[in-house]
Amino acid sequence: HEEPSLRPQLLSQYIGQEGIKQNLSIFINAAKLREEPLDHVLLYGPPGLGKTTLASIIANEMGVQLRTTSGPALEKSGDLAAVLTSLQPGDVLFIDEIHRLPRAIEEVLYPAMEDFCLDIIIGKDETARSIRLDLPPFTLVGATTRAGSLSAPLRDRFGVTERLDYYTFAELAYIAKRTAELFDIEMEEAAAEQIARRSRGTPRITNRLVKRVRDFAQVIGNGHIDAAIANQALDALNVDELGLDAIDRRLLLGMIEKFRGGPVGLDTIAAAIGEESPTIEEMYEPYLMQIGFLQRTPRGRMVTPAVYSYFKMEVPQHDRHV
Ligand code: ADE
Repeated sequence: HEEPSLRPQLLSQYIGQEGIKQNLSIFINAAKLREEPLDHVLLYGPPGLGKTTLASIIANEMGVQLRTTSGPALEKSGDLAAVLTSLQPGDVLFIDEIHRLPRAIEEVLYPAMEDFCLDIIIGKDETARSIRLDLPPFTLVGATTRAGSLSAPLRDRFGVTERLDYYTFAELAYIAKRTAELFDIEMEEAAAEQIARRSRGTPRITNRLVKRVRDFAQVIGNGHIDAAIANQALDALNVDELGLDAIDRRLLLGMIEKFRGGPVGLDTIAAAIGEESPTIEEMYEPYLMQIGFLQRTPRGRMVTPAVYSYFKMEVPQHDRHV
């Protein structure tokens, strides 16, 4: 009994990111018309929004194979050379976390992306020389949570750059219902909406919540997901009405209790709550900013008055004027 794959396989099955879908559909159709590989694509945005899914849809729509690797997995230039020389013409090479690609390897990638060739050094000292290998034409799809930390020369070699955004509640509710259907379980509209509201804009979270709510429905309930069982499960998972988890709350409360709500520097608040700065910056802050709980100012991060009402606290006097 195997779990169905939740990843949509075609652009037409992919919910949300409408602008990206429209653009990709044109670029894919144009490349197919001309019988060329698709130009290199850079996808960026917070985790869990569908970058990997889009890469696999691109390969599928182009009718080619998807090869997957990641920035940290490519340690030596030989690792990248091995992947590049094993591609079939037109294949999609997906490099996740491409901002973590070592510098030396990035330089191997430039001629590969631009001219589909690989310069390798053989021999050493006086006998060292470089030979140029031709590669099959391919499409690089790079994914990153932070486009800003890609080097400019790498960023410039992507012909298509698309930013993924948080999903609306309606889109997430639709994804929840689609997932329930794939699991062959009934889900009421109100339950899908509850799950969507608590998914912090992120389909990966929606799908995880659907699985856990299904566990509750099958063990404690009657196998059918209604709003009551969904809420019971979501409360038991400690996911609140805004989808915030224990770390979000620790971050916000830490800013209020230790730094009077800010402004406070990222590294300072990270150390104070025992988390790493990049984790906070890439995984926690973007959604807290999206819902208007956090502001970035030149002097550091600040909580907004909305955070005090969320915690049922009085907005302190020194904040009243903002
Ligand atoms: N599952 C996860 N993300 C999805 C999306 N954007 N569309 C459809 N199904 C999904």
